[in-house]
Amino acid sequence: MQTVTAPTQQSLANGGGKLKTLEQFIIERQGDVPGSTGQFSRLLRDIALAAKIVDRDVRKAGLVDIFGEAGGENATGDTQKKLDMLAHEEFVRALRRGGEVCMIGSEEHDEAIPIKTNGHSGRYIVLMDPLDGSSNVDVNVSIGTIFSIYRLPDGCEEPLTEHALQPGRDQVAAGYVVYGSSTMLVYTTGNGVNGFTLDPSIGEFLLSHPNIQTPNVGKIYSINEGNYRSWEDGTKEYIKWLQIEDKATNRPYTSRYIGSFVADFHRNLLKGGIYIYPANVRDPRGKLRLMYEANPMAFIVEQAGGRASTGSQPILDVKPEMLHQRCPVYIGSADMVEMAEDFVAGRRTL
Ligand code: AHG
Ligand code: MN
Ligand code: MN
Repeated sequence: MQTVTAPTQQSLANGGGKLKTLEQFIIERQGDVPGSTGQFSRLLRDIALAAKIVDRDVRKAGLVDIFGEAGGENATGDTQKKLDMLAHEEFVRALRRGGEVCMIGSEEHDEAIPIKTNGHSGRYIVLMDPLDGSSNVDVNVSIGTIFSIYRLPDGCEEPLTEHALQPGRDQVAAGYVVYGSSTMLVYTTGNGVNGFTLDPSIGEFLLSHPNIQTPNVGKIYSINEGNYRSWEDGTKEYIKWLQIEDKATNRPYTSRYIGSFVADFHRNLLKGGIYIYPANVRDPRGKLRLMYEANPMAFIVEQAGGRASTGSQPILDVKPEMLHQRCPVYIGSADMVEMAEDFVAGRRTL
């Protein structure tokens, strides 16, 4: 019989010698981004720092007076929560301080924000949803941050909004932070997806989920079924198909919907599943924002072996027209998204 040696306090404290911080990982993988210098590594470090600050604010949310509405509406008409604005401000501050960014686009700000640090600006453009799922803040449910990074096109000196309107395929990196039962940062630079869990005792993100691959098919579907009557027929039929009993395909599937895109996406990425926010009668382009939510998650899911579609084309191929543009989203396990596309296109019916 094999003897199992109990881990010592010492070996637990240093993760058995295998513990790797986000910062170490970023430096090791610096060569992943073609033409990248230390600037890109510093940008990721700045984002991780802002994530820790927002994490601290989120964890304090029940203790200080930051609950409730800030009294305004954001560019796409949603009621802003105070924590939305706090998260926006923390990210902008950290990126401004870091000096690697020339422009920020945020769900919480109507216009693109040009950034200069001590008279200079960096070469990167960051687009973000600083706080995703904010309606869940007051009820202690997981929320997140989503970010997307582009390079300022060569030859451009002054950044203009149009420079941010690059297709998702041109992202240099994308990631999200989920403030859940633990806080995790997951990101890709186009060479796989890696996840880091925040160890609050040392204030560091540690590599906990190396090289995430999403299953080709899962058992979970995530959609706001309250909107059923306003979907187009293909989506209605696909959801009905998921609910039909069939042993060979493991149906019926199971429904899970948190109402925080980051949290729903994260669960499905690890377990396998599909998340859908389709077009509907009220919002013909759906609800989620192409630049802040759909594109970064599409980049991540494709890197993890999954698929992301508007129902009729890959999200990453959509040509953006404006910063706050919305787009329908079918995202997750590759086979499930493909099947959904077949229903939407009418190639398959019940
Ligand atoms: P945000 O909090 O950034 O505005 O995003 C909310 C989004 C997304 O997180 C979530 O999946 C979706 O809205 C939920 O919308 P419904 O309430 O319409 O289902
Ligand atoms: Mn959001
Ligand atoms: Mn938001």
